[in-house]
Amino acid sequence: MGFNNTNLSAKDRIVLALDTDSLEEVERLVNLLKDYVGCFKVGPQLFTSCAYDAIDLIKNLGGNVYFDGKFHDIPSTVAKAGSNLIKRGVTTFSAHLAGGSKMLTTTVKVARETAKKYNMPKPTILGVTLLSSFGQRTLTEELNVKMNIDEYVSHLTYLAQESKIDGVIASASEAKRIRKEFSDEFIILCPAIRPTWSVVNDQIRVVTPADAIRAGVDYMVVGRPITAAEDPIAAANMIIDEIEEASKTLQI
Ligand code: C5P
Repeated sequence: MGFNNTNLSAKDRIVLALDTDSLEEVERLVNLLKDYVGCFKVGPQLFTSCAYDAIDLIKNLGGNVYFDGKFHDIPSTVAKAGSNLIKRGVTTFSAHLAGGSKMLTTTVKVARETAKKYNMPKPTILGVTLLSSFGQRTLTEELNVKMNIDEYVSHLTYLAQESKIDGVIASASEAKRIRKEFSDEFIILCPAIRPTWSVVNDQIRVVTPADAIRAGVDYMVVGRPITAAEDPIAAANMIIDEIEEASKTLQI
């Protein structure tokens, strides 16, 4: 499965973060939620604990996988990592845009060639703009970047588009501007989603599913508001309803 932002249902838009170390928990969550979310996000925590056992399990249970590896390395290493994922049936993954155009274009090229060779769907590669753990002070003082956060995110998003990256991971406040400046096919995935009824946890700049839709976000990463809910299916359904309501108001 690759991301494709045309005719998305509310369910398709939900990317469930599987932040766990345990295959049993993966099995429980995938069985419970595969009909209520579009795909399951595997990140460094689950991968370093269960590696491909987790990915194969999700796929065998009928779930789609997004590998949020946030790759950042020399071009050939990232391209080979992407190619390995595709050979194992994972066609959607992420890389840091700060890895530069050579890393990004090489990764896109090799991913597309590998997918073709193995008869897989066209890969979807998403670019990390600036981690939400960064603020202006860290950007300026630690990375010595002279731009403000908005300018820096825009700058990296142009680099993504030039490098044929399919979309970016960005906050809802950045999504509004990205949606205006880039074509509708350019994918925006937004984390830190918190419905009004959920607990904020350690996220700082949170946004509701409805606000994310109004900002032009295509996909939203949701973890604990669903996984830690007393009734995860009811929580997912409430988010689906909220997305549907917000999408209706956009179409008017
Ligand atoms: O919804 P919850 O806070 O549980 O989601 C956590 C997930 O969101 C983690 O997998 C994390 O990698 C991801 N994420 C994030 N903030 C970002 C980027 C990704 O919380 N800026």
